Amino acid sequence: MKREYVYKGFERFWHWSQAGLIIFLAFTGFEVHGSFRVLGFEHAARFHRVASWMLIGLIIFAIFWHLVTGEWRQYIPTTHKLADQIRFYTRGMFRGEPHPTKKSGLQKLNPLQRLVYLGFKLVLIPLTVLSGIVYMFHKSLDKNDIVVISDIPLGTVAFWHTLGAFLLMAFLVVHVYMTTTGRTPTSNIEAMITGYEELEEDEDEPVDEAKVDGQVDR
Ligand code: HEM
Repeated sequence: MKREYVYKGFERFWHWSQAGLIIFLAFTGFEVHGSFRVLGFEHAARFHRVASWMLIGLIIFAIFWHLVTGEWRQYIPTTHKLADQIRFYTRGMFRGEPHPTKKSGLQKLNPLQRLVYLGFKLVLIPLTVLSGIVYMFHKSLDKNDIVVISDIPLGTVAFWHTLGAFLLMAFLVVHVYMTTTGRTPTSNIEAMITGYEELEEDEDEPVDEAKVDGQVDR
C-alpha cells in the first residue's frame, strides 16, 4: 500500500461546500414547496435565494478550476472495465473480491463514477440551477417582456426545479452509500477530508492505460 495525494485543496473545498449548499438548498427549497415548516416561508425563500447565488459562484469557480488544471479529463467517459465495475458493485464487493480498477491521483474515478458524475455535472446540476434561475427571474422577465421565457408557466418551471431537487436528493443517498464501498467504510470520506488515501501499489497496471482512457497527463 502507498499513501497518495488524491484530492487537491480546491477540490475538497468545492466538494464539501457544494454538498453543504445543496443540502441547505434542499432544506429551504422543500420548505418553500410546503413540505414542512421550520424557518417560515419568507425566511426559507430568502435564504434559498442567497444560497443559490453562492452555489452559482462556486460552480463558476469549479468550471474554471477544472479547465485550467485539466482535471476535466478525469470525467471523460469510457467503457473500459465498465461492465467489471458494475459487476463489482452488484456482486463482487459482497463476496470480498478486489476492486476491478485501481485508483490514483491521475485516475480518481472508476468508469461508472465517470459516467454518473458526468451526468451529475451536465444534466442534474444544469437542470436544477437553470430552472432555479428561470424561477428567480420569472416575474421580472414576464413584466419586462424581455425573453420568450415569460411564456413558460411558473408551474412548469417549479415542476422541473422540484424534479431536479428530488433527483439530487436521490443522488445524495446513493452517493453517500457508495462512499462506504472503498478499502474501508470511511476511507473515501477521509480522503475527501485530508486529500490523502491509502492505495494499492500500481504493479500490473501501466500508466499508459490511464492515458489511453483520457487521463490527466501530468
Ligand atoms: C442555483 C441554484 C438554484 C436557484 C437559482 C434556485 C432558485 C429557486 C427559486 C427562485 C425558488 C422559488 C422560491 C423563491 O421565490 O425563492 C426555488 C424553489 C425551490 N427550490 Fe431552488 N434554486 C436553486 C437550487 C436548488 C437546489 C440545489 C435544490 C434542492 C436540492 C432546490 C430546491 C427547491 C425546491 C424544492 C423549491 C420549491 C419549488 C416549488 O414547489 O415551487 N433548489 N428555487
